[in-house]
Amino acid sequence: MDVETQKHAAAARALDFVRQGMRLGLGTGSTAAHFVALLSERVRAGLEVVAVPTSEVTRAQAERLGIVLTTLDETPQLDLTVDGADEIAPDLSLIKGGGGALLREKIVATASARMIVIADQSKWVEVLGRFPLPIEIVPFGATFTRRAVEAAAAAAGCPGPAPLRQTASGHPFVTDGGHWLIDARLQRISDPQGLAARLAAVPGVVEHGLFIALARTAIVAGPTGVRVVEQP
Ligand code: A5P
Repeated sequence: MDVETQKHAAAARALDFVRQGMRLGLGTGSTAAHFVALLSERVRAGLEVVAVPTSEVTRAQAERLGIVLTTLDETPQLDLTVDGADEIAPDLSLIKGGGGALLREKIVATASARMIVIADQSKWVEVLGRFPLPIEIVPFGATFTRRAVEAAAAAAGCPGPAPLRQTASGHPFVTDGGHWLIDARLQRISDPQGLAARLAAVPGVVEHGLFIALARTAIVAGPTGVRVVEQP
């Protein structure tokens, strides 16, 4: 199985967890897009669900494919969110936000009774941090905030630069929420909870891409098959 086939296989397995009448959170990224496409086939076959998208990109895809959408204001409690990840550790802590949607992704996952993370095998790591940690910040005072994030990371035992994410044209990447992103290159996050607490204490930080104790199920597809990993 190549990587794209692995993503598709993980998404297909996640469909087994979807039930009639569920209120769903729809993730963002190439793996989540497989899930949205497969879900829409079930919807066309008669499955009734309502869904909250985690980004404008996912909203457009779901609308185009005929999935009934709602909002967290109309439907503040969801049954299940299915989303991808940039890294998954064995305790199912995650790095998310490579696609820039981490804020809505975290709100939607937290509003859900259950989060299932779907991924190809390349996302499975022993220790988080090789993938740069996305951190959403307010534009005001961005240079100060970047420095404060670097200091917080150093104090949490994982020093590294935290540059602003830029578009191909050299402008700051702007999230769906109108914020900017920094990508902290930390290499090895030995204490994700400690780092999360320090980042949350930086005033200009809106949210960070460490998802701790949110996913209790991971569906990971490798070249030889799909495995389901559960955490109590
Ligand atoms: C979006 O902001 C991210 O959290 C994605 O879920 C993550 O980057 C995984 O994306 P892919 O499935 O495209 O690798």
